[in-house]
Amino acid sequence: MIELYLDTADITETARFHHCFPLTGITTNPTILANSGVGLKATLTYMSNLLGKDARFFAQVVSKEAESMLNEAKKLNELPYDMVVKVPTTEEGLAAIKLMKQGGIQVLATAIYTAQQGFMAALCGADYLAPYVNRIDAMNGDGVAVVRDLQLLIEKHGLSTKILAASFKNVQQAMDVMKLGIGGITLPVDVAMQMFSHPAIEPAVAQFDKDWADAFGDKLSFES
Ligand code: E4P
Repeated sequence: MIELYLDTADITETARFHHCFPLTGITTNPTILANSGVGLKATLTYMSNLLGKDARFFAQVVSKEAESMLNEAKKLNELPYDMVVKVPTTEEGLAAIKLMKQGGIQVLATAIYTAQQGFMAALCGADYLAPYVNRIDAMNGDGVAVVRDLQLLIEKHGLSTKILAASFKNVQQAMDVMKLGIGGITLPVDVAMQMFSHPAIEPAVAQFDKDWADAFGDKLSFES
């Protein structure tokens, strides 16, 4: 089954979607944590209590050089959770991914804007690739096409890397990449909400309620 993540550090929103979605865990990035005003350790404590011990968490290194990224990743990997270390797919990041994989650390290559960039990260051993679908679209590119090319390359070359598609502004982008058979997706809260939003839903439910109440009052289904 596709792994479904929420791209947030908001505990209230995570609780809301944990209630109704089969969440695998949450993804964060430095901007998300900075905007939440809550550091990684406190966020992980809250999220782990909420989602349980099987939840998977993604946190990004902020170091710049491969060796220091590796040292930071080792610290993240020591945290008592199922951690995946996010690494920006730069020249140093690719070097860091190779080092991290030698050390058995789970890695997601992030900030992917091109198929070639993601493919190199996969060849370096990244467990996950995060192509930035909406950011690519916003630059007059085709985010879905980048995901399609990456999925094709992964399959053609028999790689175990999973695509965890990221950066969405609307549900159409999310649905388009999920049709490609990718391994995972991370949704921001507003797009997650769009998954069950349609102007016809509420009127349909209201009509059922009215028809039922007219016929059976406040009886429950099995009482009728
Ligand atoms: C994923 O790795 C990124 O942190 C995130 O999905 C980017 O999303 P944005 O483009 O909405 O900031």
